[in-house]
Amino acid sequence: MCEYCGCQAVTAIGELTREHDLVVDLIGDARTAHSAGDVDAMAAIAGRIAAVLGPHTEVEEHGLFPALAGEFPEQVAGLEAEHRRIEAVLGEAADGTPADPGWPLRLLDVLNLLRAHILKEQDGVFPAALASLGTDDWEAVEKVRARSARCCRLRGRLRGRLRACRLRAAEPAAEPAPGRHRHPRPPRRSFDPRPLAASKEPRGGRVSSSAKTCRSAQDCRSAQDQGPGRPGRPAPAVPPRIGGA
Ligand SMILES: [Fe+2]
Repeated sequence: MCEYCGCQAVTAIGELTREHDLVVDLIGDARTAHSAGDVDAMAAIAGRIAAVLGPHTEVEEHGLFPALAGEFPEQVAGLEAEHRRIEAVLGEAADGTPADPGWPLRLLDVLNLLRAHILKEQDGVFPAALASLGTDDWEAVEKVRARSARCCRLRGRLRGRLRACRLRAAEPAAEPAPGRHRHPRPPRRSFDPRPLAASKEPRGGRVSSSAKTCRSAQDCRSAQDQGPGRPGRPAPAVPPRIGGA
């Protein structure tokens, strides 16, 4: 580790270094869990490493690396590619223990990569940043750190609410408290409109049977005038039979 150049005295580098130290400890825990065959513990540790690396990587990629990319483009591109590889394997445990039996070995491989990656940053990137970055660059790094912290708090609150919602959805419905018992709503009465319609008189009074007959007769005469077709249409012409009986 870089302990002699003084870069850890810079606030931003000091925070990044503390996060590296925490991740190194967690890598040791993950290896211990693997030796014990405890994949669930490995998944939980992967989640904790991912939580530390989230804001850490953001500060590096959006604060530190842009200031170094002009002078060290290949190195910065290589470090960012390693970030993606590490995130991909850690992300497999984002929703719990992965079912893939190959995941524990993939995690160990990527944790070896992460350990070497941390050494590269501590012994190469951070001393180079101390030599290259100016006041404005460090202020930009601090702004990224502050923004990342706000985002992390927001994400943490959202995750907490989501977890609470899932727990409420999973637990059985609670019995109502004594004295606040809700009576079940009585079933609705079935409604059959037919008897009511039969007894209901039409508006304007009862229609006499003669009026019914009268209207019916008009309809009949109209239909007879127009022939056997539908009312309002002329009767279809019957074609003459040729040579018929
Ligand atoms: Fe780092």
